[in-house]
Amino acid sequence: MKSRRRIYEGKAKILYEGPEPGTLVQFFKDDATAFNNKKHEVVDGKGVLNNRISEFVFGHLNNIGIPTHFIKRLNMREQLIKEVEIIPLEVVVRNIAAGSLAKRLGIEEGEVLPRSIIEFYYKNDVLDDPMVSEEHVTAFGWASPQEIDDMMALAIRINDFLSGIFLGVGIQLVDFKIEFGRHWENDTMRVILADEISPDSCRLWDIETKDKLDKDRFRRDMGGMLEAYRDVAQRLGILTENEPVKGTGPRLVK
Ligand code: TMP
Repeated sequence: MKSRRRIYEGKAKILYEGPEPGTLVQFFKDDATAFNNKKHEVVDGKGVLNNRISEFVFGHLNNIGIPTHFIKRLNMREQLIKEVEIIPLEVVVRNIAAGSLAKRLGIEEGEVLPRSIIEFYYKNDVLDDPMVSEEHVTAFGWASPQEIDDMMALAIRINDFLSGIFLGVGIQLVDFKIEFGRHWENDTMRVILADEISPDSCRLWDIETKDKLDKDRFRRDMGGMLEAYRDVAQRLGILTENEPVKGTGPRLVK
């Protein structure tokens, strides 16, 4: 394979220079990490599934007028995307109490929240991505008040759209994490959705059994992560029953 410039490597993805200025190639790795890399395994085939699931979601979001960085899928593991300046925030949207919210506020997991809640976390591995308020975001200049408004409005539209898509295939969208970037077109900048949306970044529960179909299977040592991701892909009609996404089971990475 011809060599190309690696722009950035994260825990689950690599960004390479794209074929044209203003584009990048986003590569989905098989690495699964949790607790800021303290837990790390390679799950063969996870990258392929996340690439396909994220393509499905971002493609639909583009089609309903929610601007995203996604241009097209290139192959099993790569997408062509627009280059953006990532806003250093993780935006979490919650519909049902789970994870850190349930723990922090002593709410039972599974309780439906009185309304959807949006939270901001400052993207900083050294600090373990601390939760921050809008006050922190504007005071430290991570995003402007207008950008916060834009991110929140987009987050709500994305939540409504995704909740419907998943409900249609018997899955509850409990919560999810998204990231945004600044994209310049000529002289105008707008905030667009970046990164990925996949079972790595969402909590997805089977509506009947409440089975977890997301990365909590890995975080909580439940096993069956790849099978769960494949189930999500199949329900969404992305993978046909027999399409092989090979997996030899998780391997511990030291
Ligand atoms: P939390 O309950 O652990 O705060 O997670 C909220 C949502 O954000 C959940 O869907 C998982 C997702 N998430 C990520 O995508 N990356 C992360 O680093 C963390 C902590 C959560």
